[in-house]
Amino acid sequence: MLKQTILAAAESPRLQRVVQRHGMRLGAARFVAGETLDDAVVVLRRLNESGLRANTTLLGEGVGSEAETRAVVDSYTTILDRIAAERLRVNVALKLTHLGLSFDEELARVNIGELVAHAADRGNFVRLDMERSNHTDLTLDIFETLWNLGYRQAGVVIQSYLRRSAADLERMIALGARVRLVKGAYKESRSVAFQQKTEVDASYIDLMKRLLSAGTYPAIATHDPAMIAATRTFAEQHGIPKTGYEFQMLYGIRRDLQMQLASEGHPIRVYVPFGREWFPYFMRRLGERPANVGFVLKNLRSDRGDRGVRPGSDRGQTPV
Ligand code: FDA
Repeated sequence: MLKQTILAAAESPRLQRVVQRHGMRLGAARFVAGETLDDAVVVLRRLNESGLRANTTLLGEGVGSEAETRAVVDSYTTILDRIAAERLRVNVALKLTHLGLSFDEELARVNIGELVAHAADRGNFVRLDMERSNHTDLTLDIFETLWNLGYRQAGVVIQSYLRRSAADLERMIALGARVRLVKGAYKESRSVAFQQKTEVDASYIDLMKRLLSAGTYPAIATHDPAMIAATRTFAEQHGIPKTGYEFQMLYGIRRDLQMQLASEGHPIRVYVPFGREWFPYFMRRLGERPANVGFVLKNLRSDRGDRGVRPGSDRGQTPV
């Protein structure tokens, strides 16, 4: 119930204005690398130095004009150039609504085409994040068009909470596309999505097995120890080397587990968002683990500032 309330609140412009005004002090700095590319580069370099790969994204979802999408494309071009210049082991992720998908499909196609071409020039890779289910068809179609044009420097995301995902996964496997498997972060109706955690988890495990068996360098994106254990067991039983797939986790979540898996030889990629529009992303992270609301309240009470978060102690700060 609390999860649904938080996800609904994530769509409230009024709440957004209030939360945004208090900046990162509310605790967003735990999940967001900062508001500028310079802030993000510091975090990305530090992750690389500790043996972790990363995937960075400029926060922002709904944009309303071609000019706004132009600014987003320019920002990602700069990000890709900066990653190359700094020789970081980092690729990028983006949302097609950030490139105009919700108001001009053709514009989004042109924008993503430009960015994937730029990433290819830089020897890099672009992951198309998956958004609400009303965008699933178009996101996969746009990806497939790029693929058929010969672009191989892009990948997609499949959400295990969607009832349609087994079919979508087969379609992506048939292409040879790189897939990131997630549970799914949005509020979706019963008609399109499983509502019970047990169903979402069972679907995740089925999809993971299929992906590991037949997919191209799968990304298993989860913090759930049960999903991670099932993946490791399946890979070991089927002779799939640790380097044949990667685990992905979000910045600021289960840093202990990220380091432990990396020390055991698993490639780990950390998803590192940055940018001024951090509110919806932050709210989704709270929705996934409502106990994190306690962490926000604690920050409000202690008023120690956004950098008061102790590194490497996310479990301790999160009321269990
Ligand atoms: P689950 O939510 O069941 O949590 C399992 C355990 O993980 C919890 O018990 C807790 O220990 C820990 N945990 C999970 N979330 C936490 C949090 N916020 N704070 C503290 N602990 C937490 N979604 C989407 O719809 N489209 C996308 O493109 C992506 N992309 C993406 C990339 C990457 C790299 C990751 C890791 C996740 C996504 N997601 C996503 C989000 C995803 O759909 C999902 O909402 C979250 O990963 C949470 O689900 P878990 O698999 O972690 O399991």
